[in-house]
This record gives sequence, C-alpha cells and structure tokens, in this order.
Amino acid sequence: MIDLRYCSDPKGIDLDEVDLMAPVPETEPNRQYYFMAKLKKWVTQKKEELGRSLFCCTQTFGCQMNARDSEKILGILSKIGYEETESEDADLVIFNTCTVRENANLKVYGRLGQLKKYKNKNPEMITMMCGCMMQEKDVVDKIKKSYRNVDVIFGTHNIFKFAELLATRVFDKSEKKKMLVDVWEDTTEIVEELPVERKYSFKSGVNIMFGCNNFCSYCIVPYVRGRERSREPEDIIAEIKCLVKDGVVEVMLLGQNVNSYGKNLENPISFAQLLEKVEKIEGLERIRFMTSHPKDLSDELIEVMGRSKKICKQLHLPLQSGSSRLLKIMNRHYTKEDYLTLVEKIRKAVPDIALTTDIIVGFPGETDEDFEETMEVVEKVGYDSAFTFIYSKRTGTPAASMENQVPEDVVKVRFDRLLNKVQEIAAEKAAKDVGKVVDVLVEEVNEHDSSLVTGRTSQNYTVHFPGGEELIGKIVPVKLSESKGFYYYGEQM
Ligand code: 5AD
Ligand code: SF4
Repeated sequence: MIDLRYCSDPKGIDLDEVDLMAPVPETEPNRQYYFMAKLKKWVTQKKEELGRSLFCCTQTFGCQMNARDSEKILGILSKIGYEETESEDADLVIFNTCTVRENANLKVYGRLGQLKKYKNKNPEMITMMCGCMMQEKDVVDKIKKSYRNVDVIFGTHNIFKFAELLATRVFDKSEKKKMLVDVWEDTTEIVEELPVERKYSFKSGVNIMFGCNNFCSYCIVPYVRGRERSREPEDIIAEIKCLVKDGVVEVMLLGQNVNSYGKNLENPISFAQLLEKVEKIEGLERIRFMTSHPKDLSDELIEVMGRSKKICKQLHLPLQSGSSRLLKIMNRHYTKEDYLTLVEKIRKAVPDIALTTDIIVGFPGETDEDFEETMEVVEKVGYDSAFTFIYSKRTGTPAASMENQVPEDVVKVRFDRLLNKVQEIAAEKAAKDVGKVVDVLVEEVNEHDSSLVTGRTSQNYTVHFPGGEELIGKIVPVKLSESKGFYYYGEQM
C-alpha cells in the first residue's frame, strides 16, 4: 500500500480544484498536474464501477537512479488514487528496466512473457515499459514485434510525462488501441516539482544530476541516459528542506558522476560547494552520495568530507580495473597509481571511512597480469565491500567491437578468485569494529525476528539489535557485539 505520509508533493495542488474545461497547459509541470487531475477523476469513477480499488505494480531493475525514477512514478500514481501492490496481477503494471549488463535485459523478456497470462485474464490491464532498455531501438523493435501486450513504452528522458502518457492511453477511444511509443533521444529539460513517493519516512534519494559524459568504453549509460545535466542548487536544497520538514534525516544525493556536478550550470558550482549548502540544512542529520568517479574527485571535496559533521563515512569509488593499461582502454582517465594515491588522501582526511567499489572482470584483452594487478589493488585498498561484475558486451559501445574478448572459462576462474578475496577482506574489515559504539539510524523491525530492529551505521554497515518499532527513524548509539561478515549484532547503549 502506498502511504501518503511518505509522499512529497511540493506544489500541494488539489487535483479536484484543477479546471479541466480550461485548455491543456503548455508549460511543465502544470501540464502534468492537468493530466493527473483528469486521471484522478477517471480512477474514482472506475473504482465505483468495479466496487474495489485500482492496483498498480512497479517492477524496478537496476540502479538507484531507476529506483528513484520508480518513486516518481509511484508519487503520481498515489496522487491519482491507485494503490500499490507487489503482485503483477494488477490493473497497471510498469517495468522500469536496466540495460547495463545483458542479463538485465533477458530478465525483462522473461517477465514480459508472464504478463501475457495476467492480461488475458484482465483485458483492461495496462502495461507500461520504461527505463534504460527502452532507449535502445532494437529492444523497442523486439517488443513491438513479439510482445504486443505492452501498451505504452517511454524512455529515461521523458519520465516526467508519465501522467500524460497514461492519460493518452486511458482516454484513447479507438477500437483497436495501438501501442504508444514515446522515446526521446536526449533532452536538456529537467522538470521540477512533481510529486514523488519514498519507501521510508526518514530517508530519501535526491537526484542532483542526470546522464553521464564519460563514455567509459564498456558502458551503455551515456547512450541511454544522455549527457550530463545538473539540477540547480536552489531546487535541490528546496527539495531537501521539504523532505526534512516531512521527517527525513538522511539523504542520498544521486548522480552517475556526482563529482562533476554543477560544472555545466549557468552559474557553475562544485559538488563540494553543494555539499556545504546541504550540510547547513537544519534537521538533516546524514548525507550520502553516489557515484563518484575517481578522475573528478577533488581535493576540495576531500577537505569538505574531512570536516563535515553530516557526510557519512562511506565512499563508493569504482575502480573497474587495477591495470593502468586496461584503465586507459576503458577510457577511465586515471592510473592504478592515481587511484591508490587518491585512496591514501581520502583515508588521511577521513581515517575511518568505509570504501566500496565496482570491478569488472574479463574486459576485452584482460591478461593474467592485468587481473593480478586488480587483485593487488583490492588487497592494498582493503574494500569494505565490492560489487564484482563479469564484463558484458553492450552493442554500440566501443568495447563491444574489440576483438580480443576473454574466453568465458578464464573469466569464470578470475571472477571466483576475486569474489573470494573481496569477501575475505570484507569479513576481516567488519570484525575490526566489534566492541565499538557507533550511531545507527534504525530503519525497520527485523523481518525474521520481531524482537530486533535493523539499522545502518554511518559507514553503511547493517546492524541488528534488540529494540522496538518506536526506534524507527531515530539515530541511536549501539555497541557492536558480534560481526557476521556483512552485518553486525549489537546492543543499544
Ligand atoms: N559489463 C560489466 N559491468 C559493467 N558495468 C557497466 N557496464 C558494464 C558492462 N558492460 C558496471 C561498472 C559500473 C557498474 C554500475 O556496472 O562496474 O560501475
Ligand atoms: Fe558508465 Fe563510466 Fe558513466 Fe559510470 S562513469 S555511468 S561506468 S560511462
């Protein structure tokens, strides 16, 4: 169920007051509020007709950007009167897709096949597809050909048009409704002030920028999310202030490459300067951000992190490879040595910082020596945790046409070795903090044992400790009594 308490509605427009006889507004976001008002009326009528609620289900694949986009969709759906369900046997099903690796695509096709069954049972069911996969022409062609049960396809650039697209489908009076496809190649537009839902009352993601300009040679993101666009600092601050008023104590600032935030604004501002502004917001207790690109992580930022009281002691710093030779071919613009120096600087400024990373195994041309260098950096840095990926060929990226792809069996052996190493180091790291007292933001009552609550430390470790529901959203001191590798047991002090 969508709980409206967790829905920020910055404009607070009463949809029942919107004049539907007036011409459709041309400017955003008013245009979308007009369509929301129209849809709300329709949803109310439909509910009366059916004698039950209307249910929607969003399935989100991929990263935190997608998760936040789904919250924007849910914000609109809750405002117009839908109720959320986890079952795909719903009145409206939306797949928010990811295409960063090929297995993400395959998962979606499997699920689309299953949806057919539900649609046969409920012909009025509406199915919509959005997200990164929809930015690929061959994907859209395949859906058009083989998955006629999909009603609406839209992309990453026009997600703000969700209400309008849904309305176009709902109010399409034609006998045989055609699949509605609206995918933009790119955009410079950022539409502010639409309603957005969030899962937790006390924490929220906040987009600070969209897109990526880096074109790492393996990565499809710049092609499907477009060029970098930063939000105006005033808009970001206003959103966070609104969230804080609503009970939020922790924000996660989101961007593909937060370190280049603000460079292209009319009045340029650095990410470090933005952080300083966010730090000043009264009532906000914790600030996280992701993702940082090592090439753009400035001394100014390290300094701000070092003196901040609110920035969490956690940094996600994708390495991708420990071989300078491969890093060059990957178009990463740093060497192994640059990376290690950066880590040293960060650790000096923030000694107890938890470092996490992303690593790709089996990039074209990766030799045993290259791989050993990755293992060496992993050992030297001692990551608190690391996401390890097997290289996946993405059509349209420069790496996809490189000839020396690494054989699968070789990749598998390397991948297993890396994973073991990463896990071994992570367990050692976590064990070191046993006995310490740390601040924990309590997130929920433990799913498996209701006498425990579960929360996160500043370093982003999970902690379970005895406590009740009343602690949710509070930051409390907890003694870490036992390490389980990836999480701790503790007791409140
Ligand atoms: N193959 C494997 N991993 C990839 N990533 C991005 N593109 C690919 C690819 N083609 C990984 C990178 C990135 C993370 C989000 O996904 O490590 O940091
Ligand atoms: Fe992809 Fe590189 Fe941009 Fe990250 S920085 S989204 S890996 S192109």
